[in-house]
Amino acid sequence: MKLPERVNIVDVGPRDGFQTEQAFIPTALKIRVIDAISRSGVKKIETTSFVSPKAVPQMADAREVLRGIERHPGVSYTVLVPNRKGAELALEESIDAIRMVVCASETFNRRNVRMSIEESVSECEAVVRLAAPSKIPVEVAIGVSFGCPFEGPTPQDRVSELARTFADMGFHEISIADTVGMANPLQVSSLMGRLVKELATECELSLHIHNTRGLGFANVLAGLAEGIDTYDASIGGLGGCPVTPAATGNIPTEDLVNMCAEMGLETGIDIDAVMAASRIVEEFLGRRLPSHVLLSGTNQQAVAAHRVSASLNE
Ligand code: COA
Ligand code: ZN
Repeated sequence: MKLPERVNIVDVGPRDGFQTEQAFIPTALKIRVIDAISRSGVKKIETTSFVSPKAVPQMADAREVLRGIERHPGVSYTVLVPNRKGAELALEESIDAIRMVVCASETFNRRNVRMSIEESVSECEAVVRLAAPSKIPVEVAIGVSFGCPFEGPTPQDRVSELARTFADMGFHEISIADTVGMANPLQVSSLMGRLVKELATECELSLHIHNTRGLGFANVLAGLAEGIDTYDASIGGLGGCPVTPAATGNIPTEDLVNMCAEMGLETGIDIDAVMAASRIVEEFLGRRLPSHVLLSGTNQQAVAAHRVSASLNE
């Protein structure tokens, strides 16, 4: 199997992960966590979102978070927006990219952003126009690209048509998102294989995978095999979706770093530093996060622990 040699991991925990937490996470703690992720070698962090504070109260401190974090050289601090108003607010701050979101199912899009897909697409056009003078890269996530809890499996043609529209608009990156974890590896392989053929020479393609039904890492492998080298993940496997409360977290960053390391794929990320960031969140929330590596340690740590216990028994 031919896989990319290097994998780019984007930590979306501070946005996707925090947005569904019921208790307000104090701004200072959000900043501490983002600073901890910045020290891990992760090169891109989805820091917050500029959304209606009524829709997502947890993100009401977007501006304060961006103003409070330490900027590490070589790390991109990006934000998510649902409309042009979000982009206007984001562009007043120091940011390295803006990501718009449009869902590939009419029902899901309406529930998420109270607009039709067509209205969201026209917001995308406005966002590209607004960001152009600053040359800040614009990205777009196509949500529920594989399946939607309200409409079932997402037609591949619809995702392909949307992606074509966004590439023509000038988006630098298109993130194919399995927002509520309904994708399977064959579907990932088929859709990503098609999009690579249709668009890879025009823009970056990346995957945003949730592990809701345990298929997250099988889906990553399917994506890698199609040459996709950029993946969203979140510290500890935080995450969910405001539209469907039963949806659970993104693939955990440390589990993805571990998988890549075990397969000899370079990420440039210090797994212990990622786990240190996850533990700050665990401590605050008072519950364990779903990452397997966070619970069990890496292979190397397991071997080292066994050596220690064997030497104690000698
Ligand atoms: N950032 C901050 N405030 C915003 C905003 C943005 N991007 N867009 C709208 N608002 C404010 C408006 O100014 C208005 O404020 P007011 O009540 O004080 O006048 C209020 O929000 C409602 O604005 P409106 O344009 O009528 O929006 P809406 O109520 O139809 O909601 C969205 C539409 C898109 C703003 C809202 O659904 C939303 O923020 N969704 C994001 C959901 C999300 O983050 N999902 C997870 C990511 S996939
Ligand atoms: Zn998500």
